[in-house]
Amino acid sequence: MGWVRTLRVQSSVTFIEVNDGSCLSNMQCVMDLEAEGYDQVETGLVTTGASIWVQGTVVKSQGSKQKVELKVIKIVAVGKSDPSYPIQKKRVSREFLRTKAHLRPRTNTFGAVARVRNALAYATHKFFQENGFVWVSSPIITASDCEGAGEQFCVTTLIPGSQEAANSPVDGIPKTKDGLIDWSQDFFGKPAFLTVSGQLNAETYATALSDVYTFGPTFRAENSNTSRHLAEFWMIEPELAFADLNDDMACATAYLQYVVRHVLENCKEDMEFFNTWIEKGIIDRLSDVAEKDFVQLTYTDAIELLLKAKKKFEFPLEWGCDLQSEHERYITEEVFGGCPVIIRDYPKDIKAFYMRQNDDGKTVAAMDLLVPRVGELTGGSQREERLEYLEDRLDELKLNKQSFWWYLDLRRYGSVPHAGFGLGFERLVQFATGIENIRDAIPFPRVPGSAEF
Ligand code: 4AD
Ligand code: MG
Repeated sequence: MGWVRTLRVQSSVTFIEVNDGSCLSNMQCVMDLEAEGYDQVETGLVTTGASIWVQGTVVKSQGSKQKVELKVIKIVAVGKSDPSYPIQKKRVSREFLRTKAHLRPRTNTFGAVARVRNALAYATHKFFQENGFVWVSSPIITASDCEGAGEQFCVTTLIPGSQEAANSPVDGIPKTKDGLIDWSQDFFGKPAFLTVSGQLNAETYATALSDVYTFGPTFRAENSNTSRHLAEFWMIEPELAFADLNDDMACATAYLQYVVRHVLENCKEDMEFFNTWIEKGIIDRLSDVAEKDFVQLTYTDAIELLLKAKKKFEFPLEWGCDLQSEHERYITEEVFGGCPVIIRDYPKDIKAFYMRQNDDGKTVAAMDLLVPRVGELTGGSQREERLEYLEDRLDELKLNKQSFWWYLDLRRYGSVPHAGFGLGFERLVQFATGIENIRDAIPFPRVPGSAEF
């Protein structure tokens, strides 16, 4: 059973390529005029895109493209396909296929990406489960802004929840005396948002169960139209108890090497396809990643290296600036020849409130793992476990300490050194398949201006 990819009718025999999505290869079905149901080919019920049921005998193939083929005994058209079917044999652009997100999984590229994405998810759970981590579900709706970047989508029921209501004017919103939105009238009694990261919740479980990880959807209202940003993406966030930044970097390295090895061993046919059609040499590149040590350097060393670079960057640099993707890519691709690079000890002013302050008072125990083509694959840190330091930092950043009461409690009752990181799953899919645009690494991309399908 499967869907017809192509159909070639010759005088006495018809070749039908069928694919059921279980692998990249099609089954070539060879059908002569005697086969039962041949009239369905003649009457146009079996065409490109149609779903069919075929019975036959597997025989050695006469052709050179496949080892075996199916000699058809009987064919049944299950669901016919309208001639307007947009996924015809000729190659179509990935931009075009994004407008057909409901049908693109029937193409070679998107079938392969979906299978490799699945293998990466399986390998993720396998890695953490084998290493004694407990999977924790962090909430999607939350009141806290983990990254403090103000990039949250607001969740509200103030506009009644039907599709028609979504189109109507918003006069009905309850207001306070000052004319502000009266959140006490809303479902949660205060503003609530879609989570940007499950980290703070993961920390509560890490300080009870030791090593844990989350793996779920996260959301960012960043107005970034780039090949590496989505408004909705999946994140893997391990949190290690009784651990420091070195343990965190070791975990990120072991994890990445494990999942890369897993796809190389278990997705051979799909990886060969990417190697030929999407990124030449990806198999060698990933084999190197799985084997070799990653480069480690401090932020300060990275800045020095970038300041010495002959290359002209669009964004000028000085100590204290955040690295842009052009800098990250230069470091991994040009300086270290494609090797993943971990940069650590960033200036505290460009990082989130929860990162542990280093003894120099200027930097924090943060680490970003950079990979070629994608840039930042993970962001992580050792967390500030000292109550006074954390309270001072919240004050310094003028964040509302009250709203973090439960997070501060973790430092009040049995605090431990702990560390973790977040890895953007779609960026991992990009890295492992070579697919250029993150919008092609997730089944239904959510980006500014588009939430169709
Ligand atoms: O560096 P980020 O913002 O770190 C955190 O959220 C931490 N709370 C993680 C932690 O320590 N538990 O995000 C982590 C990763 C990035 O390195 C990137 O791979 C991915 O999430 N990411 C995105 N992926 C796709 N689209 C976006 N808009 C992304 N923003 C971040
Ligand atoms: Mg980051």
